[in-house]
Amino acid sequence: MSNHSESWGSRVGLVLAMAGNAVGLGNFLRFPVQAVQNGGGAFIIPYLVCFLLMGLPLLFVEWSMGRFGGSKGHHSTPFILDSMAPKQFLWKYIGVFGIFTNIAVAAYYCYLESWTLGYIWHSISGTFTGMDRGQVAGFFSDYTSFDGYQNVVFWVFCLALNTYVLSRGLSGGVEKVAKVGMPLLILFGVILAIKGVTLKSGVDGAVYDGMEGLNFLWTPDFSTIWTPKVWLAAAGQVFFTLSVGMGSIQCYASYLRKRDDIALNAMSAGWMNEFVEVVLGAAVVIPITVGYFGIDGMKALVAEAGGLGLGFRTLPYLFQQWGPILAIVAGVLWFGLLFFAGVTSSLAMGTPVMGFLRDEFGFKRTSAAWSFGAIVFILGLPTVLFFKYGVFDEYDYWAGTVSLVVFAMFEIILFAWVFGMDKGWKEITRGADINVPLVFRFIIKFVTPAILIGVFFGSLPGIWDAIVNKAIHTEIAAATDGAVIAELKRKIFFVNISRLLLVAVWGFIAFLVYKAYKNRTRDGRFTTNDV
Ligand code: PHE
Repeated sequence: MSNHSESWGSRVGLVLAMAGNAVGLGNFLRFPVQAVQNGGGAFIIPYLVCFLLMGLPLLFVEWSMGRFGGSKGHHSTPFILDSMAPKQFLWKYIGVFGIFTNIAVAAYYCYLESWTLGYIWHSISGTFTGMDRGQVAGFFSDYTSFDGYQNVVFWVFCLALNTYVLSRGLSGGVEKVAKVGMPLLILFGVILAIKGVTLKSGVDGAVYDGMEGLNFLWTPDFSTIWTPKVWLAAAGQVFFTLSVGMGSIQCYASYLRKRDDIALNAMSAGWMNEFVEVVLGAAVVIPITVGYFGIDGMKALVAEAGGLGLGFRTLPYLFQQWGPILAIVAGVLWFGLLFFAGVTSSLAMGTPVMGFLRDEFGFKRTSAAWSFGAIVFILGLPTVLFFKYGVFDEYDYWAGTVSLVVFAMFEIILFAWVFGMDKGWKEITRGADINVPLVFRFIIKFVTPAILIGVFFGSLPGIWDAIVNKAIHTEIAAATDGAVIAELKRKIFFVNISRLLLVAVWGFIAFLVYKAYKNRTRDGRFTTNDV
């Protein structure tokens, strides 16, 4: 079947696409909320340590794995991993995670991404004008409940848009969107961040200075530094925001040439993501909300409805305090920024799936793109229809959190111990435009695997609680109202079904990998058994 040809148009395009892959809704919605929920300043130290000891090393590892696999004609993790471990048949099934995660995350991520389009529309058409806070929050509940059809219309439109861009290829589609989207996103982010941190009490109805929010996030607090939960949350955020442990970086990197630089490119994209996350991501939602509700009020809002709560339920209301014109401008900037952040990430989720279908089953680019769109539509439907039963959160937990850690743990063991650090280091440094500090060799071999194994075992109790639905059962035990209990039981039902669905998807991909492997052996195409 086809060793499909496809490549990046330019280095700038590649770095922007990779940065666009990483910079996403995670930077603006997930990061601030994780920080708040884990004690503000107490979060930042574990976060930075995880970034340096796991995030950066994994970026080097994933970029070089991708380029290595790509040079052998592989563009998705099952056979990239396979090509690194001669005669060990299991690795390609570990690689299933690198397709599964992209599909399952895309299934809820694209829905969230489509809200930003709906909210741009409503900001421009003045829907939020004159609404009080309760009404703006209520609007969100109405929008995401299935009563209206708008959410579905915007969602399908958003999926179609993604599919279309993907069908145009890397240099003709993904790269073009990144070249326009990334600069605009940064521009919009800077404008909003300036407004956020310069918010003064007494001006525009603000009660506190925006700076208070920033201080809350940035004043180091060592009291919870030994709490495992904070470390797990920090590790999870670093993974999600950098898109490591997903299989999407490997796929983008598989379209590099053998001697293209990895070290500097990986650093540029990774640090650009951190800038957008800790500088811009921290300076918008939290300072603006704190300006009106104070630290405690902001914490209460987060507890009430999480990251989506602040971004969608609260900010459109606060923008109204800035006068009618600025309210529209701020709405368009904020939701426009979220849209660009989202779309450059969801495109990155599509490419590994397409790469797999094209490499193994001879799909053409367009049909591969539409297949991805169709899969995301089907798997996304439950998150749209049963949003209020927590299906969305369930996908996020299993695909967007647990799978990343599991996959990253196996891939770093493969890279450092099976493929071997001597070959691994050569891959990382070949063609490098910077000197990669030698400590990374040691970190990749010992430190990163050790922390990952620690994080994995540390999270097992929490995973078990999730499996047995401990949180919902606690709520049931505390509830007295029969209707509430019935609703919670329904929630358990939907949550369990969505898990089965995810397991079935994983199994189906594993089956396809098995088929692909059989085809390869039959046709005498490259598998590591030839080595
Ligand atoms: N890193 C993206 C974000 O911060 C999410 C993402 C996940 C992107 C998987 C690509 C693949 O939102």
